[in-house]
Formats: sequence, structure tokens, C-alpha cells
Amino acid sequence: MPPRCALVYFSQTGNTKKVAERIHGGLSAAGVATELIPMKSAKNQKIKNSDIIGIGTPVFFYREPLNVERFIKNLPSLKNRFAFVFVTYGGHKSNSIERMAIALRQKGATVLGDFSALGYDTFQPWDGMEIAKGHPDVKELKAAEVFGRAIAEKYAKIKKGERVTLPRYKIKLDFWLPVSMFTLDLAKRTMLPKKKINKSKCNQCERCAKNCPTDNITMNPYPTLGNDCIYCYFCEKVCTKKAIECRWSPAFRILKI
Ligand SMILES: Cc1cc2nc3c(=O)[nH]c(=O)nc-3n(C[C@H](O)[C@H](O)[C@H](O)COP(=O)(O)O)c2cc1C
Repeated sequence: MPPRCALVYFSQTGNTKKVAERIHGGLSAAGVATELIPMKSAKNQKIKNSDIIGIGTPVFFYREPLNVERFIKNLPSLKNRFAFVFVTYGGHKSNSIERMAIALRQKGATVLGDFSALGYDTFQPWDGMEIAKGHPDVKELKAAEVFGRAIAEKYAKIKKGERVTLPRYKIKLDFWLPVSMFTLDLAKRTMLPKKKINKSKCNQCERCAKNCPTDNITMNPYPTLGNDCIYCYFCEKVCTKKAIECRWSPAFRILKI
């Protein structure tokens, strides 16, 4: 029976999904039965039945988004399983790869490797700045496929009892580490703008609710926000009526913090 891989990804504007698809291509070409699973529909049973677990995400606030952190935390034990991680990011990924790899290792998995590529930056206040426009590009996507193959080959070697070099992951003391700490809920609540629903503009299309990564928006009959916001502002982005209003401070545009 071929090895099985659950390739779970979170992607809002498609960058990470594109990378996931190419990694999937590489793994499949190398004989691994791989299933691409959007994070929201990933079930623990699928994970339990897999030999390899791949997790991909965009970088938010210099780390993995809160929903991804929680997803990894809630995984069943990954003892005797193998894993890899990948990210797309607009400019600075900081310790996102390391954080996820370490969390997977704490679950018991052997982490085989990681991959990252730039991705057109979709952070709301930077809209129009065209940061990392055109990424992931052809070269990065080809590299993602090569990475998929390399993971399959490494796994096969381990199973044959051959020696392979495994990456080591350690949190780096980089400039962005303290900034990534601001993603703690309290700091986000104070630094980032609140969302206001303008009922006179809302046509109750439910796009915001359907696209919320944590199902934090309920229609009542207008969108109502719960307490589980990860501050991705995707609700603001996908609202065609501009009914979700956020007052972005000019500091975000100038300092690009
Ligand atoms: C809320 C938010 C925060 C972000 N924070 C960062 C960041 O800290 N560093 C970075 O390099 N890119 C950041 N980005 C850019 C995304 O990581 C990048 O656009 C990614 O490729 C989006 O992936 P997707 O298309 O799969 O959703 C952020 C984007 C959003 C929406």
C-alpha cells in the first residue's frame, strides 16, 4: 500500500492553495497517496489514517494565524507519524515555520522539512501597495513541486532504514519576534481597528460569515461578530457592499507594521 499523506492548508486569497496544489503534485508523482484538505474540513480521522501530515498557511502578524495554531494544538497524537510545514508570506515570515514545526514535534511527529514562498500581500491596510505582486511565481511553484518529491523520497529512505538528515527547528531571536508577540489577543484588541457593521449598506449576502475562518460571524439577520476573531479582516475584504467598516490608522500604511 502506498504511503498516505493528508495535506491540510489554510488559504484565503489562494496563494497558499497554489503552493499546496504543487506540493500535492510532487508527492503524488513520487507515489504518495495525497489528499488536499482545506483546514476547515480536516477531520482527525483522516489525520490518524495518514503516514505524513503536511500543514500550510499564510503568515499573519509574523507567525501562523491563530486558527492554525489551534488546529495543530488540537491534533491527535502524531507519534510515529511524519510531518512537513509550508507558508506563503508578503515580506517577513519570522518564526512561523519554526513555531509550527516545534508544535508538530511536540505532538510526536518527525518533521521532514519545510517550504516557503512569497505571496501577494493581502493585508487590508496594504491593499494597493502591490507587495510581493506576482508571487508565488512560476519558479516558486516549481520549487514547491520539487519539495513535494523530496519529502516523499525522504520518507521512503527512512522507511528503508537509510540515514537522512532532518532539519532542526529553534526559535530565532529576530527583529520580528517581539512584533509577533503582539498577536496575543489582548494586544490585537488594542492595536487593530474594530469592525463596525453598517446595516444600511449590508445586503445580508452572508459572504462574510461563510468566509470567516473561525465561523465567528452569525447572521442575525445582519452579521454579528462573536469573540473568536483572528483579525484577518477577510470579512472586510470580501464584503462587496463595504458594509464592514474598519478605521485603519494611517500608521499602518506608513510604518507597514
Ligand atoms: C491579517 C494578515 C496579516 C498578515 N501578516 C503578514 C506578516 O506578518 N508577514 C508577512 O510577510 N505577510 C503577512 N501577510 C501576507 C500574507 O501572508 C500573504 O499575503 C499570503 O500569501 C496570503 O496567503 P493566502 O492567499 O493563501 O491567503 C498578512 C496577511 C493578512 C491578511
